[in-house]
Amino acid sequence: MSDLIRPVEPADIPMILRMTARTAMFKPLEVEALQEVLDDYFAVTMEMGHKASVLVEEGIITGYAYWAPAAMTDRTWYLYWIAISNEVQGKGRGGRLLRHAEDDSRSEGARLFLIETSGTSQYERTRQFYLKYDYTLCACVPDYYADGDDLCIFEKRLAPKA
Ligand SMILES: CC(C)(COP(=O)(O)OP(=O)(O)OC[C@H]1O[C@@H](n2cnc3c(N)ncnc32)[C@H](O)[C@@H]1OP(=O)(O)O)[C@@H](O)C(=O)NCCC(=O)NCCS
Repeated sequence: MSDLIRPVEPADIPMILRMTARTAMFKPLEVEALQEVLDDYFAVTMEMGHKASVLVEEGIITGYAYWAPAAMTDRTWYLYWIAISNEVQGKGRGGRLLRHAEDDSRSEGARLFLIETSGTSQYERTRQFYLKYDYTLCACVPDYYADGDDLCIFEKRLAPKA
């Protein structure tokens, strides 16, 4: 089977948006926000060091990730988006993309890698995913997204503490 991880291209955007909507994990407003993020990526943020890659298998996009350095920090990076096609979740692809984003950030000098997600029961498996790949839950903000919907921040050090 031929597969690869490569940078996102403008023609990938419709497929990425469809895949994201089909996970049913994101609100329509969040999918719209993703469209803006990807449009901005090709317009400006790619030049500022943002990264976006797709996993392609037999010519079909089965997942993507988007990560970037956090402004006004010393080499802290964020994973902003990750999703895998519904049909092929739970088979290691998310882990592969996550490691790709970590390796790439490390090669850019990243020190700390952060991921934000929701504390609701709908996101229980997503939180398990980050724990499985050695992230630590380092902070929570109660009622951040909405009442009853906490912000959970996961972290992994990519370089040892100075
Ligand atoms: C979260 C996600 C990116 C993980 O990718 P994946 O390829 O399914 O995960 P992997 O196969 O690499 O890792 C499997 C682990 O992830 C967790 N997991 C999360 N969602 C899962 C799912 N739908 N199916 C199976 N495992 C899932 C489990 O802890 C699992 O570990 P286990 O096999 O020991 O039970 C993917 O399931 C997804 O796109 N989910 C919907 C969108 C989403 O939640 N994005 C993140 C928003 S912050």
